[in-house]
Amino acid sequence: MQQFEIFDTHAHYDDHAFDEDREALIGSLKAAGVGRVVNIGSTVASCAECLALAERYDFIYAAIGVHPSETAELTEERFETLREQCLDPKCVAVGEIGLDYYWPEPSAEIQKKWFIRQLQLARELKKPVVIHSRDACRDTLEILRGEHAEELGGVIHCYSYSAETAREYLDLGFFFGIGGVLTFKNGRKLKETVELLPMDRIVIETDSPYLAPVPNRGKRNDSRNLAYVVRELAAMKGISEEEVRRVTWENACRLYGLEK
Ligand code: NI
Repeated sequence: MQQFEIFDTHAHYDDHAFDEDREALIGSLKAAGVGRVVNIGSTVASCAECLALAERYDFIYAAIGVHPSETAELTEERFETLREQCLDPKCVAVGEIGLDYYWPEPSAEIQKKWFIRQLQLARELKKPVVIHSRDACRDTLEILRGEHAEELGGVIHCYSYSAETAREYLDLGFFFGIGGVLTFKNGRKLKETVELLPMDRIVIETDSPYLAPVPNRGKRNDSRNLAYVVRELAAMKGISEEEVRRVTWENACRLYGLEK
């Protein structure tokens, strides 16, 4: 048995892809060396499911927030529900929140409004943030700086921008969520970023059920597949897999304010 376990910092086990075997799968994670998982909210309804999972399993924690592509459903009333959900003792972060301009809807105005509101909620509740940003690099940085996100701390989940831009996110003190894309043949841009990232800023994540690493690319992802990401990181950084598990575990605990 390996000494250090895997911390999956970003998963969606509430997703319908897990409806048929959720219980069996989650029940198998610990034996497979997965010690902790943060299940990430994306809609108002999914946040309730995140908390239910976190209540049921001691090693699962929750992040509460509405994904940028889902922000059209937010109202002041639903925002109040989010605030109450964030008060749950197993809620470790606000997220995933951010900007996604890949899809035309909802409008940038709507996305920005609720991104800022959720950052302010994180500040009020003293929680770190889980950031989703796609095709919106400049606007995301501008809002994070404007809201002094460096005082909140957090993670850029599934980082997809250039190695140069990574320095700007590093300056904000953020962690980088690294997952299956690192193993993809077309993952060169991410490899360039990871080469310049110090190990103390890297956490690992699946985004399950999405983005399964090679050799399971295209299949449903789950936290056990992080072993392939650990292997790739170890090879790239010239350290042992054990060291990758240890450092990313400690980073994840720092990110989410959990005991080691
Ligand atoms: Ni996600």
